[in-house]
Amino acid sequence: MPDAIAAASQLRTTRDFLRWALSEFRKARLSHGHGTTSAIDEAAFLILETLNLPVDDINPWLDATLLDGERKSLAEIITRRIESRMPAAYLVKRAYIHGVPFYVDERVIVPRSYIGELMFSGIFGGEDTSLIEDIAQVASVLDLCTGSGCLAILAAGIFPDAEIDAADLSEAALEVARINVTDHNYSNRINLLQGDLFDAVEGRTYDLIIANPPYVAGPEVAAFPAEYGHEPIMAHIAGDDGLDIVRRILDEAAAHLNPGGGVLCEVGTGRDLLVAEFPHLDFLWLDTEESLGEVFWITREQLTG
Ligand SMILES: C[S@@+](CC[C@H](N)C(=O)[O-])C[C@H]1O[C@@H](n2cnc3c(N)ncnc32)[C@H](O)[C@@H]1O
Repeated sequence: MPDAIAAASQLRTTRDFLRWALSEFRKARLSHGHGTTSAIDEAAFLILETLNLPVDDINPWLDATLLDGERKSLAEIITRRIESRMPAAYLVKRAYIHGVPFYVDERVIVPRSYIGELMFSGIFGGEDTSLIEDIAQVASVLDLCTGSGCLAILAAGIFPDAEIDAADLSEAALEVARINVTDHNYSNRINLLQGDLFDAVEGRTYDLIIANPPYVAGPEVAAFPAEYGHEPIMAHIAGDDGLDIVRRILDEAAAHLNPGGGVLCEVGTGRDLLVAEFPHLDFLWLDTEESLGEVFWITREQLTG
């Protein structure tokens, strides 16, 4: 896209680049769902991260005149976003949950779990709503399907006395998780384990299990926009209806929970199917600002009936 780079050489300020990126993203009909949810948010993220500025607010920098080298870097990365259809997070090798940064590359899904948002909403340790009465008593946590390790790392911050196991089937994902666990200085408390779901933690029990497993139905994965094709397919696909892995978690979780413990699990749009299939289970469905009933909480006692 040399024409685009030439056109960008006429741009001067951050505002110019934001406007140009937005126009080009819209023209190219990009898909935005990897940590941002709109063209303007993804453009702002890409610009701020490339300029090494805080990603929370582009407004203070809109009228800043950019240096030649900065303009070149921005023109190149905005053009790459369009040509490669690669989510911005992979281009800059970084994603954030609630301002917490994580290293990412194509070995892991871009972190955007609703569980991350819920963990900051008071469900653990909030005055009215805590799912666990005394979070200081949480001594062990399992993050199943850990990917980049993002949820395990957030859990380590919320449960300061807990030992955390973070498991994934993918060796490649665990290499990325190791980078993040080291960057966040949690190597002493987060153990990275490889295996097929609970096989990785045979014989162990926990006060809390969190899981953002693959939960997309095969036909939906086949119809994904190109951006999703850069993510590992095993992070998304879970059988014909998307619930193959969630079913296994429901079947096996109780054996890995301590009395009083529970499972927090994200399921995408599978709620109705799960409720119909497990009518005896009393799921508590949790909403976020951006999701309705895509995460459930269930205790060991409810699972064992
Ligand atoms: C949706 S991603 C979630 C990653 C991370 N927890 C997050 O929230 O960003 C699902 C993860 O499950 C892993 N996975 C897929 N099948 C698995 C299995 N049978 N056992 C363990 N992990 C599995 C994938 O490698 C991927 O990292």
